[in-house]
Amino acid sequence: MGNPTDHLWMHFTRMSSYRETPVPTIVRGEGAYIWDSEGRRYLDGLAGLFVVNAGHGRTELAEAAAKQAGELAYFPIWSYAHPTAIELAERIAALAPGDLNRVFFTTGGSEAVESAWKLARAYFKRVGKPTKHKVVSRHIAYHGTTMGALSITGLPGIKADFEPLVPGGIKVPNTNFYRAPEHGDDPAAFGRWAADEIGRAIEREGPDTVAAVFLEPVQNAGGCFPPPPGYFERVREICDAYDVLLVSDEVICSWGRLGAYFGAQRYGYRPDIITTAKGITSGYSPLGAMIAADKLMEPFLTGAASFAHGITFAGHPVSCAVALANLDVFAREDLVGHVRANEGGFRATLEKLYDLPIVGDIRGDGYFYGIELVKDRATRESFDDAESERLLRGFLSGALFEAGLYCRADDRGDPVVQLAPPLIAGQAEFDEIERILRTVLTEAWQRL
Ligand SMILES: Cc1ncc(COP(=O)(O)O)c(C=O)c1O
Repeated sequence: MGNPTDHLWMHFTRMSSYRETPVPTIVRGEGAYIWDSEGRRYLDGLAGLFVVNAGHGRTELAEAAAKQAGELAYFPIWSYAHPTAIELAERIAALAPGDLNRVFFTTGGSEAVESAWKLARAYFKRVGKPTKHKVVSRHIAYHGTTMGALSITGLPGIKADFEPLVPGGIKVPNTNFYRAPEHGDDPAAFGRWAADEIGRAIEREGPDTVAAVFLEPVQNAGGCFPPPPGYFERVREICDAYDVLLVSDEVICSWGRLGAYFGAQRYGYRPDIITTAKGITSGYSPLGAMIAADKLMEPFLTGAASFAHGITFAGHPVSCAVALANLDVFAREDLVGHVRANEGGFRATLEKLYDLPIVGDIRGDGYFYGIELVKDRATRESFDDAESERLLRGFLSGALFEAGLYCRADDRGDPVVQLAPPLIAGQAEFDEIERILRTVLTEAWQRL
């Protein structure tokens, strides 16, 4: 084998970093752990990429894939169907909240987001509101990389190279309460303000031009912003008032990540569409889905009408078989209940780190946390670009990995360490995460 970077073009990767340094190469996983090609073991603090919810090394999921590939490896869901797609759609509809009964499969999250925007546009055209086409989403939110999803994404740094993007992506404030520009001492007032900003944006753009609002239950990019109390309730009212669809982008936040099958259930709101992917198969095969409310499919149910959209590998039989087996594991082991029972322990263990001066804020829910790092806890002063570069890229990511913890040090917003272990993790893994973070963050502080 030559140098791994001779031909493999890694995603979101500074390839130059690996000219001299070897690429970490992961070869095996078991439970909450992964092993590299040198035989070293790491705690998988990010479930791959918020994906491996049921944990690594589940032979029953591998066997489900092999069995399906032997029986029927591939068939499209374009005017034909196959049993695993039919069964999985039914299972998902039963688990999804309210009247979200229509499952449109994709191969991943960006395509689910893309499909949701396309459905919102097509739906409004067919119900006599053809000018509704724009989407509202939040600053620093990540919704994927295809051109439509990228337009919904609120991270200027990953958009600039590809401008001009799809027009109509409107940005509103996120729910970063730690850095609230208003009502920083009152979460409910802050939530009301942040939700009302969506209403004001719709007013500004013209309600007859806005089709949908895309929100994650807990916003990942920026480091886990949970919704303040009353936020989604108010957003729902606003969406109803302006006839705008509420899309809950749960590519990360579904399948137990927040201690519920869907994030919307955790926070008790009713979306019109859920977009999902990642944990739906725990990563044993790629799959995503857009789950739509009944009313959104109605215009496509009669006469010559059809939703003119599809993807060859969407609803792949092997992926659907794996997802069904994955949901069997969820049910048998009550993984969702396990998260609910243990999330308090996860939070309490991470909160021990508040005695380190570099730790500014620890936030999240379920098995999904961000730890924001600061230069000065009293003033909440963050690091400048050069310090962030030195601290996060130059030291933290590598040092955490070296110390046996795979997770992510992210500076797409303020610098954060992101944690989302497999849902099978328990107190022993939480303690290990805390111990490694304590050692490495202490050293980071000394280096500053
Ligand atoms: C909220 C959200 N939406 C969309 C996406 C894009 O999903 P994918 O990478 O599967 O295309 C992601 C990926 O992390 C995500 O977190």
